[in-house]
Amino acid sequence: MRLTTPHPDGLFIEGVALTDIAAHFGTPCYVYSRAALAAAYAGYRNALDAQGFNKHALICYAVKANSSLAILNLFASLGAGFDIVSGGELARVIAAGGKAEKIVFSGVGKSREEMRAALAAGIHCFNVESASELTQLNAVAGELNTRAPISLRVNPNVDPKTHPYISTGLKSAKFGIAIDVAFALYQYAASLPHLAVKGIDCHIGSQLLDPAPAAEAIDKVLALVDQLAGANIPLTHIDIGGGMGIQYHPDEPAPSVADYLAPILKKLSGRNERLILEPGRSLVGNAGLLLTQVMVLKPGEEKNFAIIDAAMNDLMRPALYDAYHEIVKVMPNGIRSDDSGDTAQTAEQRWEIVGPVCESGDFLGHDRALALAEGDLLAILSAGAYGMAMASNYNTRPRAAEVMVDGNKVHLIRRREEVAELFALESVLPAKSA
Ligand code: LLP
Repeated sequence: MRLTTPHPDGLFIEGVALTDIAAHFGTPCYVYSRAALAAAYAGYRNALDAQGFNKHALICYAVKANSSLAILNLFASLGAGFDIVSGGELARVIAAGGKAEKIVFSGVGKSREEMRAALAAGIHCFNVESASELTQLNAVAGELNTRAPISLRVNPNVDPKTHPYISTGLKSAKFGIAIDVAFALYQYAASLPHLAVKGIDCHIGSQLLDPAPAAEAIDKVLALVDQLAGANIPLTHIDIGGGMGIQYHPDEPAPSVADYLAPILKKLSGRNERLILEPGRSLVGNAGLLLTQVMVLKPGEEKNFAIIDAAMNDLMRPALYDAYHEIVKVMPNGIRSDDSGDTAQTAEQRWEIVGPVCESGDFLGHDRALALAEGDLLAILSAGAYGMAMASNYNTRPRAAEVMVDGNKVHLIRRREEVAELFALESVLPAKSA
């Protein structure tokens, strides 16, 4: 499903014109579609259902992709669980109405305080990534007189063939427990009095467009699960992580959820362990865009720069991963978004789409063919995942507003930050006495 629909009055999301959103909420502004979020979730549910998994499978949305309370609340209402990586995300999920018993806690470093909070909340499982973490968690659970449910995140040493910064399943990564030592570590975990061994977890990377590496990892995981069962360490769930890629580039389609999951689910069908998934990007990425306005056009000898009011602090992915996001004009060519009545057709040119931040790496798109005029609204697509979640206040720029469209209505789900808030936590040194 494409997020925006063309209209003589410019692009719409569901029943709302992006020009109206810009007029009411200003730019830059993240815009999400409730229908698109729900459709993405339904895509997973239906794919699981079609393979006979629906009753048992738990979809734990990876909160890091977009931790907006409104989005968490929507997924919670649809029955989702959550994959968290910090005490902060735990607090968010609970504040948004998520159920603790549907939370899995991932991450290579969990503080004792975070362990305590998660144990007190009663989460479903800790995805443990090292021997030390097992020892520490056992101690913390002992102090609370309880048993911590655990799974080991194994590192299967397969190449997910994605960007090195978001590739996690190779031996060289900091993530997971090397699969060849996992058996011994399960035996150690089973010997600890305050741990309850529940499952196994495997996440090899993000933005995967080919399911073959994930399917290869599942083979290794299942061999270990069977070996453990034989050693009287039966597991009750298998967590296959997240990682399914989405379409960013118009010429690079991504498989449907059903197609991506098919070879993976085939390997898991008929097993007794409960299936857990941790999708992030594929639930939210294409359900959101970043709405922005062209501030300045700066044609040059070698390159033409279009300076927009969104920057790398709003959407970091291009600067950090050289990631591609499609950028489209909100109004059809020849019609201005500002009602200036200026209908002069500007010619299409190649533009560097850049932000106002003082870094050469502050670009949102390279070499884009667009017919631009100052004041034009642009939509940076596929920005629902790892967009606002990774935004910062670099250059003392307030973070963007976020709105969610639901039919013909628009809800402000996070107001734009105000400049004074950005230094409200700071103080200057006291005056030096002479
Ligand atoms: N589970 C674990 C243990 C993870 O580390 C991640 C993502 C996920 C699930 C969700 O993966 P997804 O379904 O979203 O691919 N900032 C990067 C992506 C970082 C992914 C980190 N881990 C980006 O903008 O591409």
